Amino acid sequence: MPSASSTDPRVRDSALLRAARGESVPHVPVWFMRQAGRSLPEYRRVREGVPMLESCMRPELVVEITLQPVRRYGVDAAIFFSDIVLPLKAVGVDLDIKPGVGPVVADPVRTLEDVAAIPDLEPGHVPYVTESVRTLVAELGATPLIGFAGAPFTVASYLVEGGPSKEHARTKAMMYGAPDVWDALLRKIASISAAYLAVQVEAGASAVQLFDSWAGAVSPEDYRRFVMPYSSAVLDAAGALGVPRIHFGVGTGELLGLMAEAGADVVGVDWRVPLSDGIARGRGRAVQGNLDPSLVFAPTDVMLARATEVVEAGRAATGHVFNLGHGVLPSTDPDQLARLTDHVHGLQRRA
Ligand code: CP3
Repeated sequence: MPSASSTDPRVRDSALLRAARGESVPHVPVWFMRQAGRSLPEYRRVREGVPMLESCMRPELVVEITLQPVRRYGVDAAIFFSDIVLPLKAVGVDLDIKPGVGPVVADPVRTLEDVAAIPDLEPGHVPYVTESVRTLVAELGATPLIGFAGAPFTVASYLVEGGPSKEHARTKAMMYGAPDVWDALLRKIASISAAYLAVQVEAGASAVQLFDSWAGAVSPEDYRRFVMPYSSAVLDAAGALGVPRIHFGVGTGELLGLMAEAGADVVGVDWRVPLSDGIARGRGRAVQGNLDPSLVFAPTDVMLARATEVVEAGRAATGHVFNLGHGVLPSTDPDQLARLTDHVHGLQRRA
């Protein structure tokens, strides 16, 4: 079934979708990872007293929070307000998002029985997602909505560690030491993430991003063997729905070629890699990125000069979507993001 928004010619012809397809654009499209929430005072106001995961299940809040950065900045895309662990919560995994900490899982996954106990995701688990996306697409008009999911490795890390981790040691212990459990777990998460993206696309999301935030923890060899097949399964399923797929991770300089090969239309590049190198490694795909998120704390002229350099480097790519190299930091001054958006929009367009 074609998605509602993919049939809207204004969305199909938007700068974001054109850049993702490698077509000429009227201006370089801009959006910011984690633009919804965090740094916005209007976000903190509507979230007051509402736990994070509950806010993801209340369509009136999801719609409002998703629209806030679009209204404020005039960015070229909205990103759906949710979290990478929301689908797990929806199927019944006992977890919470602790403020200032992140996702915490009550009973970490260690065995085949633990994996088998996690149900697959059906659209009926997330009716509030379908409702929120439909309302958003109607409200957004010509602005595309990006749906997202967590990639199997990154989501597995939360499930296996039981919470945030720097080293991902238990996760890797399972990957190397219990390959059958690892395979079962990553297949399960791939199935849930693919189903979660399908719900969003079928309700009208017109692009998707797969967040493999912690994939940079593994070597290329291990990525190819233990991570890529499962991410490919998710990206292939999303591709079959006819939407462009953005594939992003942090510290993935050595993995960008494989992340492209996994099935990306747009390769997300973090700020550690010069964008020109990201373009060369991205195997002809469009790229997204990659201003250091900390540059918002620099004087405005310094930030804008660096943004110009990113846009200049992006001209060599098949397509370029301007973004930060990772999410908006919570203490970011929203006025800096407004200036950044206007600046990138004002730079000379691609030929
Ligand atoms: O633009 C957006 O913010 C869209 C919504 C969004 C959230 N999480 C909302 C959220 C998106 C795209 C995510 C993705 C996500 N969640 C990732 C991948 C992106 C990345 O930054 O690498 C990861 C690793 C998670 C897991 C997670 N959830 C973390 C690490 C945290 C931060 C914990 C903290 O408070 O520092 C969360 C919580 C979370 N997810 C918040 C928001 C707005 C903050 C919770 C709050 O405001 O109370």
